[in-house]
Parts: sequence; structure tokens; C-alpha cells
Amino acid sequence: MIVTIDGPAGAGKSSIAKIAAERLGFAFLDTGALYRAVTLGAIRSQVDFDNPEEVIQYANGAVVQWNADRVLLGGEDVSDQIRTPPVTDAIHFLADLPEVRTRLSELQREITVGRDVVTEGRDQGSEVFPNAECKIFLTASAEERAKRRHQQLAEMGRPLPIEDILKAQDGRDEKDRSRPMGALRPADDAVIIDSDGMDTSTVLDKVLEIIEAKRKTLEG
Ligand code: C5P
Repeated sequence: MIVTIDGPAGAGKSSIAKIAAERLGFAFLDTGALYRAVTLGAIRSQVDFDNPEEVIQYANGAVVQWNADRVLLGGEDVSDQIRTPPVTDAIHFLADLPEVRTRLSELQREITVGRDVVTEGRDQGSEVFPNAECKIFLTASAEERAKRRHQQLAEMGRPLPIEDILKAQDGRDEKDRSRPMGALRPADDAVIIDSDGMDTSTVLDKVLEIIEAKRKTLEG
């Protein structure tokens, strides 16, 4: 069974998808981590981001693997190195290119072959797994997402003004929503959860409820 969880940055998809997968005994796939790993590799290789041909050539040759919730680039575990502002800021150079998306979508399908998976990203239900048995679109208002991020950063000892977070987030949302292929959008048959005012455990309960209901229908 494939469960897709899509939604904008900061909606809490990753943590919810990961815990849901654990509870169900499913594998978990963070597709943003794959985009991040290829972007990190391109930065390291000093790829010219203004040259799409060069970006595509790099992406086609990059060896990216997903293993036990860790992402590997050329065999090196880069799960921690991919979560830095330079990587986040450069991702769109790769994620906007259909050729790169096609390659990473194929990789995502390969990873899920023969497994029960909860996969999260932007285009999982709409484009990569159109036949997924259960599709969820997890969203929250821009203000709520920025507030959560602000709190998270403050807890990590890196407080940032909420206005700055909101501005950066709006820029990412706009890029994620407007790309020609793989744009952020709910699949027609996705269940939409607006998590404004909900805490993590309430969202998790709702997600598990939706998945269990689908599972029951499938089992007949
Ligand atoms: O999920 P995360 O925020 O780590 O994703 C980073 C970026 O990777 C997103 O802002 C988006 O541009 C890109 N991405 C994508 N398609 C996916 C997952 C991520 O384009 N399925």
C-alpha cells in the first residue's frame, strides 16, 4: 500500500509521515531529502546553476540512495549536511527542471517497489504515485507554519524574526506552486487536512484514521 502525504514547507509532513509509517510498520520516504542530496552534490561540484544542461548532466550522474531513513550521495550519508540554508536556497534550480524531476520520480518509484510506504513531498499523490491507495494533503496557513518554525528555531537557540521566516517561506511556496512539472497541489482524490490550531498528536490521529479507513475498504 502506498500512502502519499503532500503539502507546503513547514506543514509538519515529515514528522507526521515518519511517525505514521512507524506505527503502521510501513517504510518512510522523504522525497525532499532526495532533492536536497542532489542539490548538495551540485553545490559541491560547483555546477553552474544558470546552465540547465550542466545541472541535468550532474543530476543524471549523481548516485542517490535512500536507506533506512538516511539519504546517501555517492555512498556518503549526507542526511545532516542537506539541511542548510545554501541547499534550501538552491533546490529550485534542480526541482524546476522536468528532466531532474523525471529522474528523481523514477528513483522514488523504484524505492517503493514491493513495499508498504508512507511517502511525503509536494507531488507524490498528484504525479509520482497517481494510483496510490491513500492520498493526504497536509496544509496550514502561512502564519501558522511560520509561527511553528519560529518556535522550533528558538528552541534550537537560533531565534529569527517571524517576518523574515514568513518572507522566505512565501518565496518557497511560490516557487513550489508554480513549477511547470511537479508543482505543489493536492491530487483530485486527496483528503485535505488543514492543521491550523491542531497539535501534532491530533494531526497524527487524523492521518492514521484516514489510512486505517482506506485499509479497511481495500481489505473489503
Ligand atoms: O520537503 P523539503 O522541504 O525538504 O523539500 C525541499 C524542496 O525540495 C522543496 O521546497 C521543493 O522545492 C523540493 N521538492 C520537490 N518535490 C518533492 C519534494 C521536495 O520539488 N517531491
